[in-house]
Formats: sequence, structure tokens, C-alpha cells
Amino acid sequence: MKKYLVIGNPIDHSLSPKLQNWWLKENNIDATYDKIKLEVHEIKNFIQEIKEQRIAGCNVTVPFKKTVIPFLDKLSREAEETQSVNTIIFDNGDLVGHNTDIAGFDTAIKKLNFSLRGKKVLILGAGGVVPSIIFALKNMHVQEIIISNRTKEKAENLRVLFNDLKILEWGNLTDFHMIINATSLGLNNEKINLDFSSLGDDKLFYDVIYNPHETNFLKMGKQLGHKIENGKTMFIYQALEAFKLWHKIEPKVNTDTFKLLEND
Ligand code: ATR
Repeated sequence: MKKYLVIGNPIDHSLSPKLQNWWLKENNIDATYDKIKLEVHEIKNFIQEIKEQRIAGCNVTVPFKKTVIPFLDKLSREAEETQSVNTIIFDNGDLVGHNTDIAGFDTAIKKLNFSLRGKKVLILGAGGVVPSIIFALKNMHVQEIIISNRTKEKAENLRVLFNDLKILEWGNLTDFHMIINATSLGLNNEKINLDFSSLGDDKLFYDVIYNPHETNFLKMGKQLGHKIENGKTMFIYQALEAFKLWHKIEPKVNTDTFKLLEND
């Protein structure tokens, strides 16, 4: 039986096994999908197991999206340009790193019908998923991307990949059409200490977090009358793209898919 895994640290809260196993069953594919917490020194051996086909493929989550790259044979263009891999496949003897977070975010935004062409986007945070979000936003032809991160150096490091990023000091606010919370603030009910009350109308507040389904950040956006969206659609569609890469089948996404991931 083919074995797939998601690797990360921490990994306990990953909902990937739930979703991937559900789709495997629905499509009558004889395979399993599990999660495993690894330490950085274990990555090389783990990836060798995919090369030797004891493991069929894997997803990669924080903090290893960049760590896995030196152990792979090839990268997709998206993985190369973001230096971020969330899906590894075995293709004709080669280990290939893909980035399906980009397509996940792109689909999530398309479903919102909120045009970002020529718009300003403020991203809070500079962690694992941010390069993918920037890549997707650039494809949507946004006018400006501004990054604000507690550790300024990490925001500045993103300029190596994307040289036209603007940087804003953590704790400051600037004008935007869309704001993205890509920090972990909100996972445990934390608040983001910014005053959004004099922003103007019709903004989009987007949170990468989907559990809780409305963080304090999204609640604040909603209270002020703005459009809000959490990261669940992005999560589902990055998983869908990984499933397609491994099994060459497009799994179904419907209300049951969203329900499956509720209350976790
Ligand atoms: P990683 O940084 O390992 O990629 P992540 O979960 O993708 O992990 O990113 C966590 C993000 O949340 C980072 O941008 C982090 O800011 P730092 O780079 O300064 O660590 C941000 N973050 C976490 N706790 C925070 C806090 N209490 N205040 C502000 N930002 C915080």
C-alpha cells in the first residue's frame, strides 16, 4: 500500500491527514496518509526513503519548506522562485519539489471575486507561507506589497526573492486594500495591536489561520464592515493540488469538504 505523509514541527494540529485520507477513500485509492514530526537532522534520511520509494510522497509544512530543497533533484518554477516546497513527488526516478500553496491562495482569492489588480496589499508576518502568498499576489498584478514583521530582518530577507517589497515597522499601519494576517497571532486568541478604525471602506481582511474560523483580527475587520476570509479555502486547495500531483485525479470540493474540517 502506498504511504504518504506530512512532515513538520509541530505537526499535531495538521488537518492534512483527515482531508487526504477522506479523498483517498472517496476515490478508492489504496494508500495511507499520516503525519510525522521530524527534527531538522532527520530530513535527509526521510527524503531518501521517498527516493527509494518506501514512501510514495509527502507534504512539507513549517519550518521545513526551505530545508528540504538541497535534498531534491528538481524544483517546479514556483518552488524555485519562492524557495519553498510543500509537496514532494517521485517522478521518473527524480524527487521533485512543488509549491501548491500558491495555487491554494490563488484559488481562494478568485472565489472571493475581489479584484486585486492595481491594489495595495499589506502582509503581517514573514514566515513559511509568505513567499507563496507574495508570488500569487504578483501574478494578480497588485500594485504594491508591503510587509510588516516583528523581526524586521526576516521581512528584509524576503527582498532577496522579491526585490520590490516595501517594509513597514511592526506596530505601524499604512493604507491598503487588502490586509493579510500571516503571523501565528490569533491561533490562541491573541490580538493584533493595530487600530484599523480609520481605514476607509471596502477592505479585505484575510487570515491564513482557519482554526479558530474567526480570529480576533477577522472579528475586528468584520465589525468595521470589511470583507473577511479565513485560510480554509487556501488549505483545501493546496491539498487538492498535491493530491492531483500524486494521484492524477482531481478530488471533489464541496460543502462536505468544509464540514469535515470544522471544529478541529
Ligand atoms: P516560521 O517563522 O518558523 O516560518 P510561521 O508560523 O510561518 O513560522 O511564522 C510565524 C510568524 O508569526 C512570524 O512572522 C512571526 O514573527 P517573527 O518573525 O518576529 O518571529 C510571527 N509572530 C509569532 N508570534 C508573534 C508575536 N507575539 N508578535 C508578533 N509576531 C509574531
